Amino acid sequence: MSELGVGSFIYEGEIYDKMNNFSFDLDFYKKWLVSKPGSVLELCCGTGRLTIQLNKSGIKITGLDIAESMLEKAREKTKQENLDIEFVCGDMRSFSLKRKFSVIFIPFNSLQNTYSLQDLELIFANVRNHLEPDGIFILDIFNPSIHFMVDREKAFKEAYRFNLDDGREVVVQEKCEYDSALQVNRVKWNFKIGNEERIEKLDMRCFFPLEMDALLKYNNFQIIHKFGSFDESSFTSKSQKQIFICKKLSNQ
Ligand SMILES: C[S@@+](CC[C@H](N)C(=O)[O-])C[C@H]1O[C@@H](n2cnc3c(N)ncnc32)[C@H](O)[C@@H]1O
Repeated sequence: MSELGVGSFIYEGEIYDKMNNFSFDLDFYKKWLVSKPGSVLELCCGTGRLTIQLNKSGIKITGLDIAESMLEKAREKTKQENLDIEFVCGDMRSFSLKRKFSVIFIPFNSLQNTYSLQDLELIFANVRNHLEPDGIFILDIFNPSIHFMVDREKAFKEAYRFNLDDGREVVVQEKCEYDSALQVNRVKWNFKIGNEERIEKLDMRCFFPLEMDALLKYNNFQIIHKFGSFDESSFTSKSQKQIFICKKLSNQ
């Protein structure tokens, strides 16, 4: 089996923005960020899909991402909108900004591209180090659906269709293969762009609900709320999402 990771093509700014042209999570983040005045840090900010809208509502926000290709798009959009947002190229496992934030968040399943316990522990320690004593840490990830993954193991299914700025049509088909030893959903995206075709991988670590509760606890976070969707409904067996609002334990 190939090494775990995400194909670089998936993090091309234009492709990413065309595939992720939605904002169902925006009001939720806005509400929680406004509830804690101060500076906010978004880890894995990508092309600024949330960062830019949050800044437009008056939130002082810094975005950090490992992919320069995504940050390039974020900076371009920020300039077009005449905004002033700090974007930092860095790895959430090892960054050091030498200041603290009232809220740190990792949105849109981004933690699921972290595969080892060691990396998770580095990220959680780094979040604790950059969080003010009474700050909050927000995280959203999928609630792994065995039914979905079984269904998507059968054949490639169309997941996205859009046009690039140069007019070419892009069709993305998806297929899953679940690795139960690594707890990784090995997703394959087959991109058809005009006459070209390429397959890109998107390995998604699955964090099962009780597992993530325990990981947060043993990394010195207290879960204040666990929601099952962005409308803040309770987390249940049917929930598509696991959304955590946490505080760090006071002696950390
Ligand atoms: C699913 S995208 C989310 C982008 C954006 N937050 C959004 O909601 O549209 C995941 C992002 O995580 C970034 N990423 C993955 N691993 C990272 C790491 N170790 N440190 C920082 N960013 C990382 C990727 O470059 C990518 O931009």
